[in-house]
This record gives sequence, C-alpha cells and structure tokens, in this order.
Amino acid sequence: MDSCLFILLGATGDLAKRKLIPAVYRGIVDREDAGRVAVLGVGRSNWDDQKLRDTFREALEDEGLGGEAADVWCDECIAYCQVGKDGELDPIFERATKLEHELDLSGNRIYYLAIPPSAFEKSIQEIGEQDEAEQRDGWTRLVVEKPFGHDLESAQQLNALVHTYFDEEQIYRIDHYLGKETVQNLLVFRFANAIFESVWDRMHIDRVEITVAESIGVEGRAGYFDKSGTLRDMVQNHLTQLVTLAAMEPPARFDAESIRREKVKVLHSIAPIDVRDVIFGQYTAGDGEGEEHEGYKDHEDTPPDSTTETFAALRLYVENWRWQGVPFVLRTGKRLPKRLTQIDVYFRSPPVQLFGGPGHCSISRNVLRIQLQPHEGFTLGVEVKTPGDGFDLSSQQFHFDYENAFGPLPTAYETLLADVATGDQTLFVHADETEAAWALFEPLLDADIPVQDYKSGTWGPTNVAPMFVADRRKATPEEEFAV
Ligand code: BG6
Repeated sequence: MDSCLFILLGATGDLAKRKLIPAVYRGIVDREDAGRVAVLGVGRSNWDDQKLRDTFREALEDEGLGGEAADVWCDECIAYCQVGKDGELDPIFERATKLEHELDLSGNRIYYLAIPPSAFEKSIQEIGEQDEAEQRDGWTRLVVEKPFGHDLESAQQLNALVHTYFDEEQIYRIDHYLGKETVQNLLVFRFANAIFESVWDRMHIDRVEITVAESIGVEGRAGYFDKSGTLRDMVQNHLTQLVTLAAMEPPARFDAESIRREKVKVLHSIAPIDVRDVIFGQYTAGDGEGEEHEGYKDHEDTPPDSTTETFAALRLYVENWRWQGVPFVLRTGKRLPKRLTQIDVYFRSPPVQLFGGPGHCSISRNVLRIQLQPHEGFTLGVEVKTPGDGFDLSSQQFHFDYENAFGPLPTAYETLLADVATGDQTLFVHADETEAAWALFEPLLDADIPVQDYKSGTWGPTNVAPMFVADRRKATPEEEFAV
C-alpha cells in the first residue's frame, strides 16, 4: 500500500473520532503492507496537534486498539490545522506540504470531507484549484460523505463541480452500507451459489422486503435531520443500494465499472413510485428497550411544528424481465423496537397445495432472510413434516452465522478506507448512481405525503403492517421480527 497523507476535514467531529480514525488505523496503518500514513486533521475549533493526538489516542483505546505502536503513530503521524470561520483552506495546503517533507511521504493525498454538506462546494473548489496549481508527485483522491446533494439538481451541480477538477476515478462517494461485509456478501451469495441465482426472479420470488430499523432517535442531530428526513437520509442511499444489489443482473466482470453499470440499470428500471405506496411517520414519546423516550418534536433542535418524517415505508417495482410484478417493500425508521437490517426474500408457494386447503394445515412460503446487522448471517426457512400422525407441517430453518464462522467482522469504514488507499472503487457510489437514485425519489420529495405519528418503540404507523403481512399467516410485525 502506498504511503499517503490523509487530510481529514471535520477532524474534531464525532464521525472522525468514533468511526474514521479507528478505521484508518485498523484498515490502513496497522497492516503488514502499509506504507507510512499520516493524518492532517482540519477543523474550526481552537485545537492544536496535541489535543487532536490525545483525542485520537482515546478513540483508538475505546476500540481496543491502544498500545505502544498506536501511541507512537499518534505522536509522530498526527497533526492539526485550524481553519478560520470562513473555512478558507489555505493554511492546510502549506501544512500538508511541510508534513509530507518531514515524514518523507510520497505526495499521495486523500482528502476526506466529513463536514456539513453546506461546506462541500467551497471545500471541493479550493482543494481542486490547489491540486491543479500544485506541482506534486503522487495521486489525489477525494472522499465525500453522504448526503451527496439534497435533490437531483443539487446532486447534478455537485457532480459537475467535482468533475471540473477531478476525474471520476479520483472520487469516492461514501455510502457506508456498501462497506458492510454482509452487504458485499450479497454479491457472493447471489453469484457464487447457483442454487439461489437460478430461482432469483419473478417466476420463483413473490416479494422482497428490506428493513432497516433503528432503535435510536435522531441523537442530537435534529438540526441536520429536520432538513433531511428519512427519505433523504436513509432511503435514497442505503436502502436503494440494497435494492440494486439484490436486484442487479450478474456483472460481466467483478470490477467497479461492470458492477456500477448493472446497478444503474436497476435504478433506471424502477417504475415511478406511486404516492399511495408510500407511508411516512414521525415518532412520538414512548418507551423502547426499557427506557422512556421523548418524541421527535420534543427534541431541543426540532421545530415544534416539524413535519419531517423519521419513518418511511414504500413499495416499488423493478420493471424488467427478471422482476416484473414483484414488489420490493422498503421500510426504515428511527425509534423502532430494535436495531435490525435485513432482506427477506419470499418465494412463491408451491403451485399445488398438496398439504393445504380446508381441513388441512396451511403451508408457509420459503423465506430467505439475509440479516445484515446485528447477528450477520442468513436463514432459509423450509417446511418439514411434524412427526406423528397425519401431515402437519412445521417451518424450520437452516441458519448460517457469520461471526460464528469467521469471528468479528471488519467495520464498514475500515473496508472502505482501505479501498480508498488502494484505489479500488467497487464499493463506492458513482456519479450516475447518485443522480439516478435522486431522480427516482425526486417526485416524492415534492409530493404532499401525510406524516403520521407513531409511538417510540413500535414498528411505525399502524397502517404499515398490511404492506408487510397481508399475505402471510397471521403474524404480527413483532412476531415476524422476533429473530
Ligand atoms: C447514516 C444516517 O447514514 O446511517 C443515520 O445518516 C443512521 O441517520 C445511520 O443512523 C445508520 O447506520 P448504521 O450503520 O448504524 O445502520
């Protein structure tokens, strides 16, 4: 792995401490093939090198990564540069060059924008201009956190700006869901196991349900979240990525370009979403996981009359040969009963109900549950005969648990940052994809969709359940998700 300078804009923020620095350390620094990696943290706070080093050392210790080697790395390879309130980046370029010289780095730079979206444009412009003006050996890569734009037009403008200075090969748009091992495993699961791929279509699959449930609320981010809402914050990116990976055709090769092409084709095949197939909700006070929680409107930074959705459920159709007529039902929300991300693939019932019908027991569909978090793995439900007289059926499960098989999994950011350092764009979102995803949801952003209350600790507004359980045996949402 090449040596590089990781210039982290937003270094004093929560993301840097909780996720990025442990990921840089584990994914890039602490590798046998690692070249020297230094971090230049950038922020507006009146911090100095020492304060940043102490903060990052603590972050590593919190993740069980502390120790002598980590201490030495923090002392030698971390520096801080304060920028003014106007955010002018001039001081960082000078400091970066100096550090590269002192630490004998090769001139490769990763600029990571972990800053509010409102500051993206100015920062990209300054970095781009500087990069063009500088006569520096080594590559430059730009990592942009989500959200990439807040609608189609702003995403197009941002892409145009980025492309003024950088080639697409230099840009790494992060959707951290793509770094999750189990999300990547979807590709292996589908394309390395002929038994599943041969039944992965409308002839055999009845419906696909994707759930990303969070038990947390907006956690002090109401200022950001209220302008965004769940459709922008979760659906346009994370859930849409899951849809594309579940629905895409096999790529010609396993490389970034071939995979992107197939994902974009899925996005272009999705029919306009009918507003009647969309349900929005907002959490009110209630209890969850044994604690009392305040409602969304009760948070300090939330406008008392806010109509921002903290829950969204919707049904969409991928209108191509493989998926015509198969509903993809998506649901995500905050303050739901538990943290859970899973894809449920419901297969069709057997064409002849040998064991069903009046006076007989009913038969369940085979369901493949791909569980992305927590308890990563998958479960395939099969029907078996209950021992004894007659032909009573019982649903049983084949189960695979990732952690049991392989031990703890790397974090998403660890995987993604290592990919940035090695120049692998497979797990990043291409310009075309972000625009196609915005184009899909744009009509919903402007639609007048009522936002219904739901009590914290429940599965969302009450009329969501039929979208999920209508054609199953009488399972309540709670039973369905009791994993
Ligand atoms: C982020 C959203 O992108 O993803 C957050 O902005 C959300 O609102 C988070 O909580 C969920 O990520 P994870 O990895 O915890 O499922």
